[in-house]
Amino acid sequence: MGDTFIVEGGRALQGSVRVSGAKNAALPLLAATLLSEGRCVLRNVPDLVDVRTLLDILREVGLAADWRGNGVVSCRVESQASSVARYELVSKMRASIYLLGPLVARRGFAKVSLPGGCVIGLRPVDLHLKGLRALGAEISLDHGYIVAKAPGGRLRGAHVFLGGPMGSSVGATANTLMAACLADGKTVIEGAACEPEIDDLAHFLNRMGATIEGIGTPRLVITGVPSLGSASASVMPDRIEAGTFMVGAALTGGDVRIEDVRLDHMAAVVDKLREAGAEVTEEEEGICRVRRTGALRPVHMTTLPYPAYPTDLQAQLVAMLCLAPGISVVTEKIYPDRFHHLAELNRMGADIQKEGCSAIVRGVERLSGTDVEATDLRAAAALVLAGLAAEGRTRVHAIHYLDRGYERMEQKLVALGAAVAREAAQRPAARAA
Ligand code: EPZ
Repeated sequence: MGDTFIVEGGRALQGSVRVSGAKNAALPLLAATLLSEGRCVLRNVPDLVDVRTLLDILREVGLAADWRGNGVVSCRVESQASSVARYELVSKMRASIYLLGPLVARRGFAKVSLPGGCVIGLRPVDLHLKGLRALGAEISLDHGYIVAKAPGGRLRGAHVFLGGPMGSSVGATANTLMAACLADGKTVIEGAACEPEIDDLAHFLNRMGATIEGIGTPRLVITGVPSLGSASASVMPDRIEAGTFMVGAALTGGDVRIEDVRLDHMAAVVDKLREAGAEVTEEEEGICRVRRTGALRPVHMTTLPYPAYPTDLQAQLVAMLCLAPGISVVTEKIYPDRFHHLAELNRMGADIQKEGCSAIVRGVERLSGTDVEATDLRAAAALVLAGLAAEGRTRVHAIHYLDRGYERMEQKLVALGAAVAREAAQRPAARAA
């Protein structure tokens, strides 16, 4: 069952919070260090379960990484003996697929467990394999593992379209981009994802000595180089964590100052929150204030690839719309199954129906605290936010999902005036000798 959050509702979030480094930028950046022949230093790396899991996997393929605390990771490839990412670790976190591109590009071989799906969907990797095959990698599936080989140890540049059924793929773009940096010749990636995390990765690779043009556009042009060297980078602020606190401020009728935020990464989110009745103001560079004084208003929202409204903030917005008088419609186009939070919110008194890949949310007067179960990272965040606004006590079970993507969440919420406490899972009593 894991740990539980005990949330006492009815308290508006007030005060300041600093956003940590972005999980979805830190993971590909850490994987990219496999490409470097020098030392890489990453700053503002969030201390998350997913980051520690990836570091464990990277160490198994020869990366010497030391975590200096305060968010600084210094690392260097010291062995290339093993290029296998084991099921036991990959099954914990599907972003391990990011090892595929760097390993096959630099070492000519990679064996990575198929990451499998998760509760939000099948999570296919066909576009990752399409990109690497275009670069000449020979890909086979062997007893649940992806085996990638570069003929003659080198990949070659190619022109590849990576646009998938949902428009683009963040992971496939990252994998193909990293591999193309060491491929012989020129690569053009059409239909590349334009999420800011991809920009962070591309700039980091260029600092290593790569030649990537078109950063921030769906057309990336990479001229391969023989090798890549040392580089350092600071992980961009987490736009999903920032958005989670923005929704929390709007949902509880609070007044929150968010520090180290990139509002230029959040136009769709800011627009939707303003439409729903929140006031979002940029106080100064990197600092915004979110409050709500009037009533919440119902909105319609559809998740789409960047720069549209992000799927990773869908559950949080639904939690807020439970209290918006009227009918809201939230349509999930990236992961149509990403609605496991609906049933739990309804158990808190929400009135939500699911129609295909849309949630129809009829606003209610109040939510009431009860026991709810998190099913994935962002559903966990949504249920905690709902608990903050509910009457009475909400116990959010399986809160380990939250620890995968939010750094020190209970401390940050308590600093904003929330009454949140973690209840450790009862360890099974030791058997009598
Ligand atoms: C990244 O996952 C994020 N994870 C996800 O965040 C995020 O929800 C997602 O991008 C979309 O923004 C990390 O960055 C570690 P995709 P990724 O490939 O790369 C389909 C969170 O909560 N697709 O952009 O796996 C796929 O099914 C996590 O922090 C294919 O069809 O997402 C989906 O419908 C959850 N074939 C769409 O594309 C493929 O080969 C977008 O997926 C790959 C993806």
